[in-house]
Amino acid sequence: MELDCSSSMITSQSPTRGSLFLLLACFCLDACTAVDYITITQPLQDSETIVSSGQTFKLGFFSPANSSDRYVGIMFNVPAVAVVWVANRDRPLNDSSGTLTISGDGNLVVLNGQKEILWSSKVSNSVANSTAQLLDTGNLVLTDNPSGRTLWESFQIPTDSYLRRMRLSSSTKGQKIRLTSWRNPSDPSIGSFSLGIEPQQTPQLFLWNDNKPYWRSGPWNGSVFIGVPGMDPVYLNGFSLVTDDTGLVYATFTYSNDSGLLYLELSSSGSILQKVLSDRKGDWEVTWSSQGSQCDVYGICGPFGSCKPHGSPICTCLQGFEPRDKVEWEGGNWTSGCTRKAMLQCERNNSVRSEGKQDGFLKLPNTKVPDLAEWVATSEDECGTQCSNNCSCLAYASYPGIGCMHWNGSLIDIQQLSSSDGADLYIRVPYSELGKKRDMKAVIATSVIAASLSFALSAYFCWKWLAKRKGKGDQISLIEAGEVFSHNLEQHKLEELPLYSYETLANATDDFEPKNELGKGGFGPVYKGKLSDGQGIAVKKLSKSSGQGIEEFMNEVMLISKLQHRNLVRLLGCCVEREEKMLVYEYMPNKSLDTYLFESSKPGLLDWNTRISIIEGIARGLIYLHRDSRLKIIHRDLKASNILLDEDLKPKISDFGLARIFGGNQDQANTNRVVGTYP
Ligand SMILES: *[C@@H]1O[C@H](CO)[C@@H](O)[C@H](O)[C@H]1NC(C)=O
Ligand SMILES: *[C@@H]1O[C@H](CO)[C@@H](O)[C@H](O)[C@H]1NC(C)=O
Ligand SMILES: *[C@@H]1O[C@H](CO)[C@@H](O)[C@H](O)[C@H]1NC(C)=O
Ligand SMILES: *[C@@H]1O[C@H](CO)[C@@H](O)[C@H](O)[C@H]1NC(C)=O
Ligand SMILES: *[C@@H]1O[C@H](CO)[C@@H](O)[C@H](O)[C@H]1NC(C)=O
Ligand SMILES: *[C@@H]1O[C@H](CO)[C@@H](O)[C@H](O)[C@H]1NC(C)=O
Ligand SMILES: *[C@@H]1O[C@H](CO)[C@@H](O)[C@H](O)[C@H]1NC(C)=O
Ligand SMILES: *[C@@H]1O[C@H](CO)[C@@H](O)[C@H](O)[C@H]1NC(C)=O
Ligand SMILES: *[C@@H]1O[C@H](CO)[C@@H](O)[C@H](O)[C@H]1NC(C)=O
Ligand SMILES: *[C@@H]1O[C@H](CO)[C@@H](O)[C@H](O)[C@H]1NC(C)=O
Ligand SMILES: *[C@@H]1O[C@H](CO)[C@@H](O)[C@H](O)[C@H]1NC(C)=O
Repeated sequence: MELDCSSSMITSQSPTRGSLFLLLACFCLDACTAVDYITITQPLQDSETIVSSGQTFKLGFFSPANSSDRYVGIMFNVPAVAVVWVANRDRPLNDSSGTLTISGDGNLVVLNGQKEILWSSKVSNSVANSTAQLLDTGNLVLTDNPSGRTLWESFQIPTDSYLRRMRLSSSTKGQKIRLTSWRNPSDPSIGSFSLGIEPQQTPQLFLWNDNKPYWRSGPWNGSVFIGVPGMDPVYLNGFSLVTDDTGLVYATFTYSNDSGLLYLELSSSGSILQKVLSDRKGDWEVTWSSQGSQCDVYGICGPFGSCKPHGSPICTCLQGFEPRDKVEWEGGNWTSGCTRKAMLQCERNNSVRSEGKQDGFLKLPNTKVPDLAEWVATSEDECGTQCSNNCSCLAYASYPGIGCMHWNGSLIDIQQLSSSDGADLYIRVPYSELGKKRDMKAVIATSVIAASLSFALSAYFCWKWLAKRKGKGDQISLIEAGEVFSHNLEQHKLEELPLYSYETLANATDDFEPKNELGKGGFGPVYKGKLSDGQGIAVKKLSKSSGQGIEEFMNEVMLISKLQHRNLVRLLGCCVEREEKMLVYEYMPNKSLDTYLFESSKPGLLDWNTRISIIEGIARGLIYLHRDSRLKIIHRDLKASNILLDEDLKPKISDFGLARIFGGNQDQANTNRVVGTYP
């Protein structure tokens, strides 16, 4: 090994004794023990270096590439420069007049030629007599001489490099040790990237760009970060995370092969680089980088997006999701992410509906699981069950060494890893997205048929029994039994009653454009619209004063939508979103009766035959509402403007049942109060 004696010696002793010692050292290599400390009487000048006892590290002044500024730093003691720590990173010297020394108050300081302090270890209650020693771990330690107490160490304020036995730490109590990148390869001042540990329930390594997440390792399972592909014994297995009694989480890094020189560097461009000194090349080689592909940029595909390094494009929406902003997405800006195509069953505020088509989970194998996992103390078997029972649980996964994880917010920073890496992530999707759709449909169809059959049978026996009891020709009992039957069949059909999303209706009515307003009923405005399949609809936006809860509302809508008669306007569905309640009706192009009766522009359109057929139609609708339907409905607001006409001028009663929705239960007909609106 070559030893540069002139620079490894620091001495404040007389020139004669110094050169004698130097001579001795250079002649007798084995005995040549370099000084590895700085005291008040043994400062370090710009031209000098001190070397750690095991010859691994050296401390001295240096200039970064393409810069003439002088900094004090710790470097590997090899010809290929690798600076692992910088003292005065923000205040360089512009000449070689600098000194690293112990100041009168015991602090380690960097002074310029004018003896101004450019940098200090800033230990407040330091003592007059202290020593700074460079250890063979690369740690520069300031100790109090009489007591040997550690006052300060460079490992506590790391710059951009992570060495063995260094601790990155993070705690709720405020002590944080993070790496901070250089501004650029020629400027060690603090750059925009920092690396630390995020003390979540499942701790991860986290890289920030100006406090915005930039990269994360995925949760720690006790031996690997499960989102780092290929994290096997050859590479980063020297890492371990430790949680001590005080709740402090810290990382340590012990590499099994102590003879190889290796460290991690947070580059100024935001990559964590594992650098190994290659004997062959005599230079540092990058053997691993955190930025293997674009997918390693945190959340590049936005919420509910998934990144595939070799995909084209790299971002796709998770199954069941679509881009939130199609134009931006196709332009390659994926950050706004994806949104659900269809609402989850469990999010619908409807108790009856919840017996229908249940949501399910889709498996995404080999996934870098999303950020913000919630750790759940439960067995692997229970993990999915517990998630499916809680609508706010959007995804789950279990992993050896971690156990069960649930996600309750946006699923962000998902990456598809190659096989054998990552975890199986299960995401909650509506029934319609499940791969097993067809089989499930068959099951449902069978059960519908079975249910219908059993109803038919019971209806038949019921009728037989009634017929026997009341004698032949009792038609009423037959109708009653038949109605029970059809009512129950209806239950199944009802599940098809569409719930329209707010977006669909807004799109259909040009965002509730005033020119599409058909009128303003007593319960709120009505808009004309057209669904994307071309069907005309009328959307009634109910005024917010409706005091009913969403569940009662939906129940009511369901009951009313069952009333089908050719003289009633059909209720197609509803929408309960964004604090809006809306009813969706079939669209009647020929407007309401009052426009024919009272508007002078359409005189004589209604001849007497038409008028009689209209009157009869209204009467038939009312008979159905009052007598024939299972749900006895009193309209309470019947007027010409509530009679709509179809193409053939057949009348249809609208707004029936709204009094129920607004006025609550009308079984005890409260006839004292006058309801309705002025015609
Ligand atoms: C230094 O400057 C040279 C020439 O401009 C350039 O090629 C080289 O990449 C620079 N080195 C660094 C570390 O910036
Ligand atoms: C070097 O820096 C000192 C202040 O630290 C300043 O007074 C001096 O002019 C600088 N010299 C050059 C050559 O820039
Ligand atoms: C400082 O401490 C060292 C070692 O304990 C001792 O040799 C030296 O005399 C002390 N110097 C002063 C000024 O106290
Ligand atoms: C340790 O590292 C050195 C240098 O990189 C290499 O030659 C040697 O084979 C390694 N030993 C083991 C056990 O991995
Ligand atoms: C991407 O879109 C977001 C808004 O969704 C915007 O804030 C951001 O600046 C865009 N980024 C680029 C590179 O266009
Ligand atoms: C459902 O999950 C949320 C969020 O994780 C949690 O706050 C809530 O307690 C859970 N509810 C039940 C019933 O477990
Ligand atoms: C962590 O995961 C790795 C890879 O799947 C596995 O080999 C290891 O046993 C796990 N660690 C623990 C503590 O379970
Ligand atoms: C999700 O879970 C986390 C951790 O338990 C909790 O802090 C947060 O409030 C939850 N968010 C929702 C929307 O339930
Ligand atoms: C909005 O309407 C247009 C045409 O009416 C249709 O092409 C588009 O798919 C609709 N968008 C949504 C989100 O329904
Ligand atoms: C369902 O009800 C809850 C609370 O009542 C509300 O926060 C949520 O927005 C409702 N969902 C819909 C789709 O209306
Ligand atoms: C009724 O509507 C149809 C279709 O919009 C139209 O052709 C017809 O002229 C209308 N009839 C009356 C009487 O307005």
